[in-house]
Amino acid sequence: MITRRRAFPFFILTLASILANADDTTPFDCHVTVGDVTFDLTSLDREYPASRTRSTPPTTMFDSLTFNICNDLKIQSDVAEKDQCPTGTRACLTKTNQKNNEPDRIVAVIPLAQTKILDPKYSASASPMKHLSMLFNGPTYALRPQSLNLTLFCDSEGISEPKFVGYDGSQLDLEWSAPAGCAVIEGDKPPPNGGGNNDGDGSKNREQKDVGSGVGWFFLVLFLAFMAYLGLGAYFNYSTYGARGADLIPHRDFWKEVPYMLADVLSHLCSSVRPRRTASRGGYISV
Ligand SMILES: *[C@@H]1O[C@H](CO)[C@@H](O)[C@H](O)[C@H]1NC(C)=O
Repeated sequence: MITRRRAFPFFILTLASILANADDTTPFDCHVTVGDVTFDLTSLDREYPASRTRSTPPTTMFDSLTFNICNDLKIQSDVAEKDQCPTGTRACLTKTNQKNNEPDRIVAVIPLAQTKILDPKYSASASPMKHLSMLFNGPTYALRPQSLNLTLFCDSEGISEPKFVGYDGSQLDLEWSAPAGCAVIEGDKPPPNGGGNNDGDGSKNREQKDVGSGVGWFFLVLFLAFMAYLGLGAYFNYSTYGARGADLIPHRDFWKEVPYMLADVLSHLCSSVRPRRTASRGGYISV
């Protein structure tokens, strides 16, 4: 009996967390909407490299970036753990120092963008060239916040190699061109409602989504309140009357009546909809 009593609140918590998580949006799923324009970046879901070499006599500094904006980077089994970024990293910068006749030395491993704190910011513009700008965030490194600034140009011809523009110790600028940098034309997708006004569709969909999640929250709150009522009522019945089984249900007599009450209400509704004629039949006739 005691285990059942304990399991109940736990059950509520589990259910609540499942419902709450169902409403969570993933931080970045490679679909970007800027104003009324959408971009589909799912075709870029792969690890890409970019690098630069700087002459720092008597050595050479090799800055190497690996990134996948759509997913976490894979952990490499052939590289020491401390020489690579931790799990959950989407952009990792490694600085390697090279000197003639000496083995290379990794001198810095910098996570620039991490899924948990990605907080992506977008902007899109058509000048000087059509592009989408994205800023992804990472943790602090050497006391400075890290981020990846990716400018993705629209190139319907094909995908270029990502270009390492610069890194100032905090933000890495990267330029890239790919078909994914071109806005998705709504007309390319199967029409959601048999065509119609393309300009309006985007905002309408977004509105519907907002309304949908609002209704979801309303029912979640309602559901939680009901669960709390059941839980507390059951506990009250248990602790006060030592109730067991079905007797645990709070206001049991009331709830037993509910189906009959509903049937009653329904039959009243139905009879009042029926022709008025019946009202004049029988009863008193005022004189
Ligand atoms: C991102 O990098 C581009 C150059 O690649 C630069 O023009 C732009 O100003 C940068 N954006 C931010 C927010 O720093």
